[in-house]
Amino acid sequence: MNAGQERVLDLSREPLLDLAALRADTPGCEAVIHFNNAGAGLMARPVLETVLDHLRLEAGIGGYEAAAARAAEVADFYAALAELLGTRPGNLAFAASATHAYAKALSAIDFRPGDVVLTTRNDFVSNQIAFLSLRRRHGVRIVHAPDHPDGSGVDVEAMAALMRAHRPRLVAVTHVPTNSGLVQPVAEIGRHCRELDLLYLVDACQSVGQYPIDVETIGCDLLTATCRKFLRGPRGSGFLYVSDRVLAAGYEPLHIDMHGARWVAPGYYRPVGTAARFEEWEFPYATVLGCAAAVRYALRVGLEPVARRTPALAGRLRERLAAVPRVRTLDGGPAPAALVTFTIEGWQAAPFKAAMDARGINSALSYREFAQFDFADKEVEWCLRLSPHYYNTEDEVDAAAGTVAELARSAR
Ligand SMILES: Cc1ncc(COP(=O)(O)O)c(C=O)c1O
Repeated sequence: MNAGQERVLDLSREPLLDLAALRADTPGCEAVIHFNNAGAGLMARPVLETVLDHLRLEAGIGGYEAAAARAAEVADFYAALAELLGTRPGNLAFAASATHAYAKALSAIDFRPGDVVLTTRNDFVSNQIAFLSLRRRHGVRIVHAPDHPDGSGVDVEAMAALMRAHRPRLVAVTHVPTNSGLVQPVAEIGRHCRELDLLYLVDACQSVGQYPIDVETIGCDLLTATCRKFLRGPRGSGFLYVSDRVLAAGYEPLHIDMHGARWVAPGYYRPVGTAARFEEWEFPYATVLGCAAAVRYALRVGLEPVARRTPALAGRLRERLAAVPRVRTLDGGPAPAALVTFTIEGWQAAPFKAAMDARGINSALSYREFAQFDFADKEVEWCLRLSPHYYNTEDEVDAAAGTVAELARSAR
């Protein structure tokens, strides 16, 4: 769509996944083939306008005054997200990133030397670094559940046996890692955690916005994600879900502030009753409002059709790439997510990505240091990741596969 042309998308009147309308509503679609949704999705117009409007309001009447004027819309961030995740607004905290939310959650656990953190070989790099840091500071033990020999991801029965053997202080699983399209069986793992009454933290950074996510079905106590990836929100955003069980047990972040607690006497503070205890006083209102708009947008598009189309587009891309000589696709599991990873012979990482960039195709690189276990198993040092979303087209998929084929032919 050309600048100035107005086409307001009313998804309530459109047939589900009216691709032309969804793309017209996404300014970035005019400029690039955006296959870096696992990095940051393209914002839809209403999200962008919401952020810009609020910044204008702050400039016009003052930041605190603008926040007061938009209190109802800010509250809708929690209401919309609660709808998306099958929980209540009081169980949700905004965070500056998924990693920020994760660190806050970890800081609420009173780790003692010898406590076990049970995780997987495909947990997100920053989570693994955080566990190593907890090991260094608090002497926790990190136990990695083995993968199933059939390549379907973590071996749930083996993981359950480790739960019974170690009674971990925390079970931590990344739903979809950053370095491949693997989808881990988080709900099956959750059933074991609930049966054994173990604290369960899920990193749903790459799955929220791509699949319907229900925290009760997963059975988690804590769940973290960002709004900028498959939810298509602005950068600098994330959130933490905290279960009623965890709130009632009195978990609170280590560095709680005047937003998360009341200083009720000179020597005493009381945490607030909701997940707001995991937030801070200062708050990026424009970003939060943009996130609310992004979540409402995702709900209007519908997570069921999104979950049908998005991994299917990725499947088409994976199939096309697998047929290209000198290309090796890397994603495991019976039904991979929309993260398509592959290596290509004859190219170095940076020049290969630069060649894709030069042809107008957005992508991302993953290196061994992002995935020590997974890339060692696959014997790769780096891979390129292409991550489509529902608003991408089959033609874009075929164009990207064609470009990779051309670059494979030109490799030295
Ligand atoms: C699986 C997973 N978890 C966590 C994160 C971290 O998210 P953030 O950059 O918002 O901290 C990422 C980012 O790529 C991710 O892919």
